[in-house]
This record gives sequence, structure tokens and C-alpha cells, in this order.
Amino acid sequence: MERVVGGGALPFILTGVGVLLLYRIFVRLRQGASVQGAVVVITGASSGLGKECARVFHAAGARLVLCGRDAARLQQVVQELAARPTGSQQQMFTPSTVVFDLAKADMVDRAAEEILKCYGQVDVLINNAGISYRGNILDTHISVQRDVMETNYFGPIALTQALLPSMVQRRSGHIVVISSIQGKIAIPYRSAYAASKHAIQAYFDCLRAEVECFRIPVTVVSPGYIQTNLSLNAVTADGSTYGVMDKSTATGWDPRDVAHAVLKAVRRRSKDVVLAGPLPSVAIYLRTLWPALFFKIMASRARKERKPKTE
Ligand SMILES: NC(=O)c1ccc[n+]([C@@H]2O[C@H](COP(=O)([O-])OP(=O)(O)OC[C@H]3O[C@@H](n4cnc5c(N)ncnc54)[C@H](OP(=O)(O)O)[C@@H]3O)[C@@H](O)[C@H]2O)c1
Repeated sequence: MERVVGGGALPFILTGVGVLLLYRIFVRLRQGASVQGAVVVITGASSGLGKECARVFHAAGARLVLCGRDAARLQQVVQELAARPTGSQQQMFTPSTVVFDLAKADMVDRAAEEILKCYGQVDVLINNAGISYRGNILDTHISVQRDVMETNYFGPIALTQALLPSMVQRRSGHIVVISSIQGKIAIPYRSAYAASKHAIQAYFDCLRAEVECFRIPVTVVSPGYIQTNLSLNAVTADGSTYGVMDKSTATGWDPRDVAHAVLKAVRRRSKDVVLAGPLPSVAIYLRTLWPALFFKIMASRARKERKPKTE
């Protein structure tokens, strides 16, 4: 009797184990590579999306190097991460910090050396730091255009180029940049910002092609509005701080969702990720397929928004 039950149950048990294994393989493939123990560098980690990325990658077991201009704010993030209940069994690492200003060219090379000293390698570089801009081109001094470009374009590419040789040498690494929908389409009164994000998109598209042979993926993430202090910290035509929480920013994506999307993109080695609702998605296609209509819509938007402080 026992033999009959055992013999009959075995195929079911084996099928069950097989299905479970297949399911685990499927889940693993969907999730992509693990970041447990990976050295992840995040610029602009003191606030907004960078801080959320720090939380998400820390919880996933990454060894973090957090970058920003303000040592005290970065230390606060480190303390917050240390105080968080992990809720998981994987090993957690206390983040390191490197303080530097991306807009100061002479600081970036030294910062890259400091970053490499933290763990001897970089597995993932997340170029997240950035600044926004609000202003009319006619009123904007060229120095403001240059300053935004220094932070959003020259700083991130200088850091990338300083860390790239060590990745190429190891034939391993991953470069991520947080661009914006405004890296795909340009909207009025955002010239400096949109130009810097278009430049970032172009540079990292070139880089992706050039380093694929070294097995180094490049991911450009282009989100729509996110609920952060970006508009509060934006600069205006005369270089002063904008200081307004725009409605579009206040009602934008939850930064936690965007940070999870960044983690997913890293795990899956995605090339180009657009995080946008239906309207910006349509606008991106319109810009390519029907530019005349797109330009008309933007001109009408510019007329309505003569005063860029009201969104
Ligand atoms: N919020 C949005 O609606 C939105 C939408 C699409 C894309 N993005 C992009 O998301 C990224 C993160 O911005 P966020 O929204 O999180 O804004 P945020 O809260 O203002 O954070 C910006 C971060 O960048 C750092 N930073 C600014 N200038 C820097 C400099 N010269 N050198 C080094 N670090 C600098 C700031 O650090 P310190 O001030 O402490 O140095 C801060 O941590 C940016 O690239 C932004 O363009 C944002």
C-alpha cells in the first residue's frame, strides 16, 4: 500500500519541484542581475531622487559611495540608512561619502580618485546630480547657461571619463545617467536645462556604442516631473534661486517609484528608460513624426507662459 502511494506521488513531487525551479529562474531573469555587494556611486545623494536611490540600493545590499557638495547632509543620509530596519537577511554596508562640486572641473578628477579608493572599484556609477533652470532666453546671461551646463553636462561626463578606464580595465561596470523628458523634447523657458539634458542624452548614446565591446552597459533614464526640490533649487535668468515649488513638480512621480525603476534598469541593464505619462510620451513621438505641430504647440505654450513663474 505504502509503495503504491509513494510511486504515485513521486511524479507529482518532481513536477512540483520542476515548476518551482522554472518559476525561480523566470523571476530571476525578470529581476536581472543582483546588486548585492556591488559598489554603487550616486551623485546628488543628499536629496530628492539621489537620496531615494541611496535607500533603494542600500536595501538591495549595495556598497554605496554617496556624493554631493554638503558633507553634513550626506552624513545625515548615512545615519538615516543605518537607522532603517533592513527587513531582509542580506548583508548591509555602511555607505562612504565623497564631497565635491561637479561644476568645478578641478575637483572632479580628485573626487574620482577618492571614489576609487573607497572600495578599489566602481560597479555602477549613477550620474544623478543636477540643477534646473527657469527663464526667458532674452533675459538670461550666457554665464547662467554655462553654469547649468557645468553641473548637468560637463561635471557628469568628466566624472564618467575619470572612472571609465578602471571599468574598461576590469571589463566590468555600468554607467547610468538621470536625464529627463526634457532630454527628448525641449519646452519653452527651460533652455539651459533642456539643452544640458539633450547633450547628456547624445553623449551617453555615443558612449553606449563605444563601450559595448568592453561589456559596460550605459543606461539613460528620462523621467517626467518628480516630487523633489528641483524647482525650488532651480536657477533663474540672473543666476538667483527660483525658490518656487512648481505645481508640475509637486504633483509629479513619487521619487521612491523612480528609484525602484532605476534599480530595475540597472538589474536588467536597460539602455534607455522613459518614465512618462501618456501626454509626454505622445509629445516625444510628435517631435519626431510631426515636428511642425509640436513647434506650434510649444509656441502656444510659450505665449501662455510669458511669465515662467506660473505653471
Ligand atoms: N524633479 C524632477 O522633476 C526631475 C525630472 C526629471 C529629471 N530629474 C533629474 O533628477 C536628478 C536629481 O534631481 P532631483 O529632482 O532629486 O533634485 P534635487 O532634490 O534638487 O537634488 C539635486 C541633487 O544634485 C546635487 N547637486 C546639485 N548641484 C550640484 C553640484 N554642482 N555638484 C554636486 N552635486 C550637485 C544636490 O546636492 P547638494 O546640493 O547637496 O550638493 C542634490 O543632491 C537631476 O539630474 C534632475 O535633472 C528631476
